[in-house]
Amino acid sequence: MQVFVTGATGWIGSAVVDQLLDAGHIVTGLARSDGSAAALERKGALVRRGDLDDLESLRAGAAAAEAVVHLANKHDFANPAVTNKAERGAVETIGTELIDSDRPFVVASGLSGLTPDRATTEHDPSPFHGIDSMRGGSENLALEFADRGVRAIVSRFAPTVHAEGDPGFMAGLVATARTRGVSAYIGDGTVRWAAIHRSDAARIVRLALEKPAPAGTVLHATAETGIATRDIAEAIGRGLDLPVASIPAERAGAHFGWLSRFFGTDMSATSDATRTLLGWNPQSPSLIEDLDSGRYYR
Ligand SMILES: NC(=O)c1ccc[n+]([C@@H]2O[C@H](COP(=O)([O-])OP(=O)(O)OC[C@H]3O[C@@H](n4cnc5c(N)ncnc54)[C@H](OP(=O)(O)O)[C@@H]3O)[C@@H](O)[C@H]2O)c1
Repeated sequence: MQVFVTGATGWIGSAVVDQLLDAGHIVTGLARSDGSAAALERKGALVRRGDLDDLESLRAGAAAAEAVVHLANKHDFANPAVTNKAERGAVETIGTELIDSDRPFVVASGLSGLTPDRATTEHDPSPFHGIDSMRGGSENLALEFADRGVRAIVSRFAPTVHAEGDPGFMAGLVATARTRGVSAYIGDGTVRWAAIHRSDAARIVRLALEKPAPAGTVLHATAETGIATRDIAEAIGRGLDLPVASIPAERAGAHFGWLSRFFGTDMSATSDATRTLLGWNPQSPSLIEDLDSGRYYR
């Protein structure tokens, strides 16, 4: 299958590209720099130069492909409006190009703010609509294309997609603990996060294309339903040989900075429907096993 991947050089995207290439697919990755283009070429992927702000590059990439995986994201947490606009523009452009083609279009999403009081399932709809909502409402925008002849599939990734080299939330928590001299959790630390190893997450994306998942499918890339944030803080404390402590919610912003918004939010989620649909089961280490391996503290 000829697959166009945006975000092909990112944390999840580079693993997705590796798995697609290993499975014999032809991958074209979107690259916005010489470095990203070279990284893709070294792997044996094709390159389409472009940018999320260059909608024609996205349209042309989708037009030339049999399937699209959209993982690029500006992640400008200080300017969510900028990130949301780019996310919406990308989904609208790619989705429109794929209308009436029945081609798969996998769109990345997240688990923040869906069901704050319980673990989210694939059947829980996203309440976010419109450019000013979470991720610019891109999940619902993508799913609208399911009624227009696009095999639109949403993959909600766990808040921690962990593995060696993880530049994401775990790296941020480790860095914060080092700087502050304490590995902290917020309040009683019972807020929970789902987790998945990067290679298990990439396999879900590959299987979504190969099986393929039907139009309108919501997948959960979560291997563990929910790990208490206190347990995460304790593992990091063990790894860094630092004390572990609770901090009150009102001090979380000062302690964690932008991370506090996420570390204080329950993002637990099951993946039963995803496992049944794709025949997928996690095969890689759990989050705590990864944190206890020592690789996060070099
Ligand atoms: N990692 C997680 O734990 C997690 C959890 C929930 C949801 N997600 C979502 O999953 C998707 C992939 O996440 P990730 O962790 O792999 O992200 P990432 O490591 O930050 O990678 C982002 C990718 O987007 C590309 N990109 C950024 N700005 C761009 C622009 N203006 N034009 C074109 N490409 C641009 C980057 O290209 P360069 O390589 O050139 O910088 C990179 O390939 C995102 O939508 C993310 O929000 C991730």
